[in-house]
Parts: sequence; structure tokens; C-alpha cells
Amino acid sequence: MALKIAIASDHGGFELKQKIVTLLADLGLVHTDFGPTSSDAVDYPDYAFLVGSKVVSGEFDRGILICGTGVGISIAANKVKGVRCALVHDVFTAKATRQHNDSNVLAMGGRVIGDELALLIVKTWLEEAFMGEHHAGRVAKIAAYECASN
Ligand code: RB5
Repeated sequence: MALKIAIASDHGGFELKQKIVTLLADLGLVHTDFGPTSSDAVDYPDYAFLVGSKVVSGEFDRGILICGTGVGISIAANKVKGVRCALVHDVFTAKATRQHNDSNVLAMGGRVIGDELALLIVKTWLEEAFMGEHHAGRVAKIAAYECASN
């Protein structure tokens, strides 16, 4: 079954977000762009919480979030219970975070990374599978901690 992807950004990530939306369309992937629709200033937590909640509800399989650095939007997304958001600026980490962490949201910084590398990271992250096995126990520990502390 094809992945359903939720994507959003703030103003710092707007231009890169538009390029990733085009990539998702070119790849024929089902996706929804949750905004913004211009580069006017917005607050990245609003978009992080929106995409994060769409992923943990099961409405979407994966989320992609872009802000200026990727830091603020990833911190905010990881406050949504069930989100495992990885801030990624290289292909090795894109692959490893799917294999080892089962990351369900990808964050990048539009002011940090070049477009071509960002698009390659998105493709790699979408294609890579979780390895499970001993990694599953570690991911389960994160979920258990999250449940216990909320
Ligand atoms: C917005 O200016 C900027 O702070 C934001 O895009 C992001 O980099 C925050 O972490």
C-alpha cells in the first residue's frame, strides 16, 4: 500500500516545502500540504502539532516538516505523543533513522540544506524500512517512557 504523507513548514521552510510537494506529486505519492501557502511569517509549532497529530491518528503514515533550521519544528513535533521526528541533513541519517528509530516524521532546515540533497533525503527516508528486532525494544522503551510521563 502506498504511503500517505502529511507535509507542512513555516516561512523559513516554505520554499523547500514547495519543492518537496512537487517531488511527492512527481513520485505519485498521496500527500496533503497543510501549509502555509505563502512565505509570510507563521509559528512553526502550529504546523508541527498539526502534522504530528495527523500521523499519530493514523490518517497519514508519515509526516515531513521544514522550518529554517529544522530544530524548532522537530522539537515541537516530538511533543506530540507517538511522534518520532528525526532532524536529518544527510543521506546516511535518513536511512539509519528509518532502520533503527522507525521515525515517522522527517524534519529538515530550509536555510541549512541544498534542494537536491533535501530531495534525495526525502526519497531515501520514504523508501527505507524499519529493521525491527533489537531496535523494536528500544523504540518501545521510548513509547513506554512517553506514556508513563504524560
Ligand atoms: C524562523 O525565523 C525560524 O526561527 C524557524 O524557521 C526555525 O529555524 C526555528 O527553529
